[in-house]
Amino acid sequence: MSDSSSCDAGLIDPEPPAAGRIDIHSHLLPSIDDGCVDLEQSLECVRCLIEAGFVGSICTPHILPEDPACNAIEHIRAWTTQLDRSIREAGLAYRVWPGGELRLYDGVIDWLGERGVPTLAGSRCVLVDFWEAHWPKWATDAFAWLIKRGYQPILAHPERLACTHELDKRLTEIVDMGVWLQGNFRSMTGEEGVEPDRWVRRLLGEGRYHFMAMDMHRPDTLSGRFDGLEMVQQEFSQKVLDHFLVDAPRSCIFTSDPAPHG
Ligand SMILES: [Fe+2]
Repeated sequence: MSDSSSCDAGLIDPEPPAAGRIDIHSHLLPSIDDGCVDLEQSLECVRCLIEAGFVGSICTPHILPEDPACNAIEHIRAWTTQLDRSIREAGLAYRVWPGGELRLYDGVIDWLGERGVPTLAGSRCVLVDFWEAHWPKWATDAFAWLIKRGYQPILAHPERLACTHELDKRLTEIVDMGVWLQGNFRSMTGEEGVEPDRWVRRLLGEGRYHFMAMDMHRPDTLSGRFDGLEMVQQEFSQKVLDHFLVDAPRSCIFTSDPAPHG
């Protein structure tokens, strides 16, 4: 179980509510990245999420190590605490936890060694993405580095990767290494393109995702994300949807071992 010291975020309760949906991938923090532009948008998204049965989100702003103004882990914790306070002040019952979506690049291992590993809600899980046209060896090396040190890498939205010609083989390789995959609901709608639409259904059908998530950004993109969620329920089942939104976050993240280095 994650302890409170590993989720050093002031007021934030590290334990998730016993029931309700949890989104593990969101750009809910205001004015941090390409997500919500201000607190008003963050609160609007929270209201929509509550209406859809969500009880909490892990805040995963982009962490872009090659950017000199890259979001720091300690800042994300402080911003999440601030958002948590604003949500309470608005009278809303909704939980947020700190995390990040780490962009892998050639050099990320040195960066992780110097700056630390951004994890989800104080767990050992690390959400990452990359967008290269060909599968980069340094991505596989970064996964191996994390796993060797006791972290659990989660590759965000593999169905949206550009390197589709070798995707199946590469995903099999990294899943065999121990990497988990997280799909985006919106990929179901075709809004992300034909290939993501095809891949998300294939990976879902083959049971290769550990999680599906909203990856929500701004209020104006929420409807497509909710549409995708409904499609998973209709094309797969309510049980599959509940697994991704209710069971998997609790059993795979909130009850996983804490981060190796807190
Ligand atoms: Fe994201």
